[in-house]
Amino acid sequence: MGPVAVRGALLGCLCLALGYLCAADKLLSGIHEWKKLILVQHWPETVCEEVQNDCRDPPNYWTIHGLWPDKTEECNRSWHFNLEEIKDLLPEMKTYWPDVLHPSPNRSQFWKHEWEKHGTCAAQVEALDSQKKYFGKSLALYQKLDLSSVLLKLGITPSINYYQVGDFKDALTRVYGVVPKLQCLPPREGEAVQTLGQIELCLTKEDQQLRNCTDPGERPAPGQGLGLGLGLRVCEDGPFFYPPPKKTKH
Ligand SMILES: *[C@@H]1O[C@H](CO)[C@@H](O)[C@H](O)[C@H]1NC(C)=O
Ligand SMILES: *[C@@H]1O[C@H](CO)[C@@H](O)[C@H](O)[C@H]1NC(C)=O
Ligand SMILES: *[C@@H]1O[C@H](CO)[C@@H](O)[C@H](O)[C@H]1NC(C)=O
Repeated sequence: MGPVAVRGALLGCLCLALGYLCAADKLLSGIHEWKKLILVQHWPETVCEEVQNDCRDPPNYWTIHGLWPDKTEECNRSWHFNLEEIKDLLPEMKTYWPDVLHPSPNRSQFWKHEWEKHGTCAAQVEALDSQKKYFGKSLALYQKLDLSSVLLKLGITPSINYYQVGDFKDALTRVYGVVPKLQCLPPREGEAVQTLGQIELCLTKEDQQLRNCTDPGERPAPGQGLGLGLGLRVCEDGPFFYPPPKKTKH
């Protein structure tokens, strides 16, 4: 065997060993299969902290990061983003799906990225098989699940005090009837506590109804999962910080 073949064989073994977690396996086979959707919402203040970007007055409500099929990305590179197709959705897009880091009014890079990476895969199901449907459905789910109001009603507001991961997860599980996944930035040097950054709620592929993010008996995927940003990872049990947006002075 030449070096390439050896590498292929090694990858193959590794993939067998790691089972469904193995991305190389999917690349080798070229299959874009997925089982569930993940509505990913992020907390703008933490997004800003994550990249140490001095965002100007980030929204003080949860915003959409994306609607992601699990296990696959970039399913059709020739299906380009077209802002024209979602013209009617723009007011809602700008409010609920802003590019927190680059808030210029007419910028659509973030939506283009989400469409090309995730939307083209989601489009395998009829309810999501156009850009208008994909973004429209994402907005509708966001509004239906209404995370920001749910948290307010639970009395969970951004605070300088800490919350406990267990309590927070239990409260959301009671409301939604399914277990969400929480992602945090690990404590920075000199800090003691992680910072909540992202909340994932999972949906069925067929009819986009809430479901648990993990199947019974399935171990939650460790580490970062697909396509996450720089420093987020599954929150560890224990305290976390849900930071109030910093106000910039005008
Ligand atoms: C990819 O997208 C293009 C443009 O929408 C479409 O014509 C083509 O059929 C798609 N290919 C697949 C494999 O879905
Ligand atoms: C944004 O787009 C709208 C409509 O296309 C245009 O009227 C407006 O001038 C643009 N604003 C900026 C800041 O480019
Ligand atoms: C979802 O997860 C919870 C907690 O692990 C479990 O009690 C429940 O039965 C699960 N629901 C389904 C439909 O698997």
